[in-house]
Amino acid sequence: MTHPAIAANGLHKTYGDKTVLDGVDLTVPEGTIFSLLGPNGAGKTTAVKILSTLITADAGDIRVGGHDLATHAQAVRAAIGVTGQFSAVDGLITGEENMLLMADLHHLSRDQGRRVAAELLERFDLTEAAKKPASTYSGGMKRRLDIAMTLVGDPRIIFLDEPTTGLDPRSRHNMWQIIRELVSDGVTVFLTTQYLEEADELADRIAVLNGGRIAAEGTAEELKRMIPGGHVRLRFTDPAAYRSAASALHESARDDEALALQIPSDGSQRALRTVLDRLDSAGIEADELTVHTPDLDDVFFALTGAATVPARTDQPKETVR
Ligand SMILES: Nc1ncnc2c1ncn2[C@@H]1O[C@H](COP(=O)(O)OP(=O)(O)OP(=O)(O)O)[C@@H](O)[C@H]1O
Ligand SMILES: [Mg+2]
Repeated sequence: MTHPAIAANGLHKTYGDKTVLDGVDLTVPEGTIFSLLGPNGAGKTTAVKILSTLITADAGDIRVGGHDLATHAQAVRAAIGVTGQFSAVDGLITGEENMLLMADLHHLSRDQGRRVAAELLERFDLTEAAKKPASTYSGGMKRRLDIAMTLVGDPRIIFLDEPTTGLDPRSRHNMWQIIRELVSDGVTVFLTTQYLEEADELADRIAVLNGGRIAAEGTAEELKRMIPGGHVRLRFTDPAAYRSAASALHESARDDEALALQIPSDGSQRALRTVLDRLDSAGIEADELTVHTPDLDDVFFALTGAATVPARTDQPKETVR
């Protein structure tokens, strides 16, 4: 019988009179990636610290790796690895020395420690830099070393608190690849992130933390279906054409400055045809038409109560002209 890798019920945590977690339930099946999303200060790091035994919850039942965290914290620690939001890398010593230090902490023999360190440094493309002080590493290299250090004890469950914050797109994609490889080896990953795209890309399930509670949970697809927000956007260069279109499509939201109209739509072929037919019969041609289907950004803003979705240079999913 398999038990979930992580199961938490009724997690509560307050600091002074500030309630950070107010009854959080989480279940993470073995061998999956779970992503906890939330705005700054939502309590993501607090949740990671509680689940990884670094701090205690005020209330809640927690099982990690099948062990009750309240009574078997040591067994939990043996099953997990944690890469914190802020680097655990010691800059004064070399990458290799950082690895060997971790090996010591895991009571590996000298030979074993050297072997594991060399393997992981190789795997994370750090062999060349291994003898240099970690303070000379780039942000991406430090982050890779951080994760390599986490893997020294061969944990079956790992917590990654914002593993790609501050990384450039290439390093971020490399990190995603590393995370996918871990999971294909059967490791369970609990990941926090600020990047919705990252959760969308990696996570089997996503939970959005807001106001101390899980505001929504599901697959990326399920979350996207939860909120409206699909629309067709028409842009014009000619103000007269824009005004005629606005009256032809009177239900649309107007952006007078950008000469753009936004029409709620599910983005289906039929809905698009209707809009185009109405423009046709009014004898108007839009200069640009984009179809926007809700993405995780929309979900995030809808659930975390930001007043409006900031105007983005909309990366159109499809463009029809
Ligand atoms: N040791 C502490 N003492 C008092 N308050 C704390 C402590 N640690 C965290 N908090 C507060 O708890 C709240 C949640 O913090 P937490 O670090 O868990 O947020 P987060 O979701 O990880 O944010 P970020 O995205 O900025 O990393 C914040 O309001 C923070 O100020
Ligand atoms: Mg945090």
